[in-house]
Amino acid sequence: MQVRLQKILSQAGIASRRAAEALMAEGRVTVNGRTVREMGTRADPAVDDIRVDGTRIRSAEPRRYILLNKPAGYVTTRSDPQRRPTVMDLVRGVREYVYPVGRLDCDTEGLLLLTNDGDLASTLTHPRHGIERTYEARVAGVPDGAALDRLRTGIPLDATRTLPAKVTLLEKTGREAVLVLTIREGRNRQVRRMCEAVGHPVRALRRTKIGPIADRRLKPGTWRELTAKEVAALTKGRPEGRPLH
Ligand code: URA
Repeated sequence: MQVRLQKILSQAGIASRRAAEALMAEGRVTVNGRTVREMGTRADPAVDDIRVDGTRIRSAEPRRYILLNKPAGYVTTRSDPQRRPTVMDLVRGVREYVYPVGRLDCDTEGLLLLTNDGDLASTLTHPRHGIERTYEARVAGVPDGAALDRLRTGIPLDATRTLPAKVTLLEKTGREAVLVLTIREGRNRQVRRMCEAVGHPVRALRRTKIGPIADRRLKPGTWRELTAKEVAALTKGRPEGRPLH
């Protein structure tokens, strides 16, 4: 949420609002590397890099790490202009300004993280980190070995080939099959388009794992807080590696 810088600085315990204004006027406050002197400037403490004399400030809000099992039919956004149900409707009661990390299609189910930790969100979504995500896809028909190999080695999508994926055939049920796919990218409708490209359109899609995080017992439409251990596992290797709780 965009808030006036003076307010962010005072809430973080850096200075009174008046003193915060003085710090800004003296050119000692930066937002994402840019010195900010204008008093009305707004920033988002959960997302922006806000520094006083080069030291990053943290918002006073507790960090929240929410694991939601998203049912189909909910849009992954904080607000939908078309007023469809959103994932935020499922985490009512969370007071902090959390937002979804990445996106699941409206018709996709499964695990979705929401947080107010901007560092974690950007690490998890940055392609450089290549966090693995695992999906179970119920597809039309039963893919043969060649189709599975094409999924594994890469499919041309948007002019570039998808990265190698782990793909296994979990079960065959007459005219359908269930595939387990683990990918390291988050292209738009990637799993659906990959399966479509090998002639096996997806009938239902569910995300079952994000990096090291899985939870088979979390019921659709419900959420829980990540444990400190899970958060540590997720953040392992992120640049700042700062302690979490
Ligand atoms: N791949 C898709 O096709 N859809 C999703 O929601 C996630 C991955």
